Amino acid sequence: MSKKFYVTTPIYYPSASPHLGHAYCTTLADVLARGKRMRGFDTYFLTGLDEHGEKIQDNAKAKGVTPKEFVDEVAVKFTDLWKIMGISYDHFIRTTDDYHVETVKKIFSRFLKQDDVYLSSYTGWYCVHEESYWTETQVGPEHLCPECGRPVEKKEEPAYFFRCGKFVDRLLKFYDEHPDFVIPEGRKTEMINNFIKPGLTDLCVTRTTFDWGIPVEEAPGHVIYVWLDALTNYISALGYLQQNDALFKNFWEDPDTEIVHVIGADINRFHTIYWPMFLMALSLREPSHVFVHGLMMMKDGKMSKSKGNVIPVPPLVDHFGVDAIRYYLTREIIFGQDGEFTPEQFVERLNVDLANNLGNLLNRTVSMIEKYFGGEIPAYEGDLNDLDKNLYEAARETVKNYETLSDSLKVTEAYAAVMDLVSKANKYIEESAPWALAKDPDKKPLLASCMAHLASVLFLAGELLSPILITKSKELFDQLGLDEDERTYEKAVSLCSLGGHHVVKGSPLFPRLDAAKEIEFIKALMAAPKEKAAA
Ligand code: MSP
Repeated sequence: MSKKFYVTTPIYYPSASPHLGHAYCTTLADVLARGKRMRGFDTYFLTGLDEHGEKIQDNAKAKGVTPKEFVDEVAVKFTDLWKIMGISYDHFIRTTDDYHVETVKKIFSRFLKQDDVYLSSYTGWYCVHEESYWTETQVGPEHLCPECGRPVEKKEEPAYFFRCGKFVDRLLKFYDEHPDFVIPEGRKTEMINNFIKPGLTDLCVTRTTFDWGIPVEEAPGHVIYVWLDALTNYISALGYLQQNDALFKNFWEDPDTEIVHVIGADINRFHTIYWPMFLMALSLREPSHVFVHGLMMMKDGKMSKSKGNVIPVPPLVDHFGVDAIRYYLTREIIFGQDGEFTPEQFVERLNVDLANNLGNLLNRTVSMIEKYFGGEIPAYEGDLNDLDKNLYEAARETVKNYETLSDSLKVTEAYAAVMDLVSKANKYIEESAPWALAKDPDKKPLLASCMAHLASVLFLAGELLSPILITKSKELFDQLGLDEDERTYEKAVSLCSLGGHHVVKGSPLFPRLDAAKEIEFIKALMAAPKEKAAA
């Protein structure tokens, strides 16, 4: 198992402010990155913005500012949001950054030299909104974009094309040899059936009808078309073809690094067909996995800026706290499926999992240790009965499952397994009935054992959940009286005795929410006037 991990999000279009859909993808990647760091992996986490293209140019014009002024303003909204959401990225790339521009130009020159790209002219059905050309079959008799349903326009212009045909057999062989390249696998089948089998057309990689892009030195008037520019970010950010390429050497060139691109299903084609082909043309290794997540839907379809049905994140975080939002995002949408956001489910999820399950377990445990042992956690003296033994067995099993599931990128399931352990610990309290043990002085060792087991399991649950609960896990550790330097993964998973630590009762980790009131609050946010994208 490799101990290096490189994880990326898509670089988002800064065509308007970020919303919960972007936060969903970025939070997933952040949870993956934090989970690996916690376990001692050498980890690098990249996110950023895809700042070129016709749509940005149009949006800027509509606002009466230059494209760069436009993207500068939106970039701050993204970085501010990531700060609020506790996103622990190592680098924030913007495709207008000089080092990125330099790498893209060099890659294009190399493609030109290798005859991987050629000049031709393009006629096709173009959707300005999706920045995509479509074929006659795809747009159908009504000439509508298959992705967003808007009318497409016929366009012809000189353009360079990438020779996909040259790499298609290699790509299929690569798919065969790496069955887990695309996760879930069904997303790869979609690509083979919908795009590769019908005959892959060469990919347009330059444009001449707008100029907000990276200019092609060899062909004045051409700018690099958005996907070659955008996909390159994953290696330009590491210094590929730049003077300082230490990160590239460490994270990309090492065949043992696990490289994961987290993306939404809407951009699957670009990541699982063209990106591996570009890398083949550059004689570089492929990523280990493209992790295709589902989309956050609203009643009226995909949450998106252009639909104007987005939920603004800052007021949600402000009201419910960052951990609750991160938990909801990680837990609610089962990986690989779309999930619908409803205020009712949101509040229910937080109440059931965080207030009733985790919050309650901590609260009960700390209260009992105070009441029965004057606040000092008793020492672990072995599993004194089957209930103790079963709880520890479940805890060990959880660690194993958590690691296996997170290593296979089953994020939702990995954290569900931890919450399952928390439920078991609550059940263990019911079955052990410490209140009854406390009445009989002969049962004191059993009572002590029960408290010791609960404290260790809480420590473990807090640690395993810490990639999501970035502030509340600390409060949990504080309440268990753990010193800063004790809060390590190794110690938590060893289920070691916390005997002698003094619990410190704090306020409830997640107070129970008044469902009716909170649902009203979210509905008001959803009804607030939305910023519409100009496109
Ligand atoms: N700029 C391209 C990506 C280039 S990557 C080399 C792009 N940008 S985007 O702003 O449209 O963002 C797309 C990604 O944002 C999706 O793939 C998805 O990960 C995320 N999401 C945007 N809306 C979303 C939802 N409603 N739900 C979940 N994720 C969403 O495409």
